[in-house]
Amino acid sequence: VRDAAGVYVVKLGGSLITNRDTVGGFDRERSDRLARCVASRLAAGPTDLILVLGGGSFAHPIVAGHGISRAGAHADPSRLFELPVHLFRLKHLFIESLCKHGVTALPFETLSYLTTVRSAINAAFLAPIRTTLGLGYVPVLSGGLVADLELGVRPVSSDRIPVVVSQGFHLRRFISLTDQPGIVREPGSGEIFRTVSRQDYHQVSAAISPPVRVDVTDGMRGKLDAALELARLGVQSVIADGRDLDEASFAELFEAAPRGTVVEPWSDPA
Ligand SMILES: Nc1ncnc2c1ncn2[C@@H]1O[C@H](COP(=O)(O)OP(=O)(O)O)[C@@H](O)[C@H]1O
Ligand SMILES: [Mg+2]
Repeated sequence: VRDAAGVYVVKLGGSLITNRDTVGGFDRERSDRLARCVASRLAAGPTDLILVLGGGSFAHPIVAGHGISRAGAHADPSRLFELPVHLFRLKHLFIESLCKHGVTALPFETLSYLTTVRSAINAAFLAPIRTTLGLGYVPVLSGGLVADLELGVRPVSSDRIPVVVSQGFHLRRFISLTDQPGIVREPGSGEIFRTVSRQDYHQVSAAISPPVRVDVTDGMRGKLDAALELARLGVQSVIADGRDLDEASFAELFEAAPRGTVVEPWSDPA
């Protein structure tokens, strides 16, 4: 791992790679296009890249349908396994797309490398991710289940995973792709906040509306919260549109002035 340069973590929103209207619906065309973008960026030069897949229709309806509770009080604990099983299937499908474009990737399950305590990170065993990355593989992560020391087994959002990764890696940038151009100032306006800083993040937070579709992980609020947590750790995040990317516009997300909403690192410790 070229640690000095740092690792890019790219999250592909569930709104992009899955069809939110059907349970377990995979958006093959969008996924194929994103996989092609990833392949092209990797071909352009050595880059340490970790992918995080949003769960979308492989997660939210499963959590809601089986009564999987964020507080750890599940309707039927015998159905908990459905969540990692569905997310593993999503990783299978997406890695097939990566494979087609010549990207060599490996899947990782949260339950196997992470524990939390009251939803804060307790321990993260990132050595397998570090080692495979060093060997040239692209680790493919997602949200899923996690064993919490106080709450028991509970779901963890993919939006939180970059914060977990930051425990063991120097992150160069977190790129979060979703179905919006960034954090929008007013619903439907299309006008986004270009930057979010320590000074104005409250104002940006106030512009986020509650999720309209089935969402167990707070939608855009979860993204901003994770980005702010990374900002406090000195990491820059970008929340950008992943709907119509081509190889050139994807590559720009790694450049100095990416499109979308840029959450700037806080220069002095919080
Ligand atoms: N101010 C805002 N700007 C952009 N999106 C917002 C805002 N407030 C709420 N949202 C909602 O957040 C959604 C993105 O989060 P989410 O549905 O979790 O996507 P993903 O599947 O990419 O994680 C948008 O589709 C939008 O409905
Ligand atoms: Mg989401």
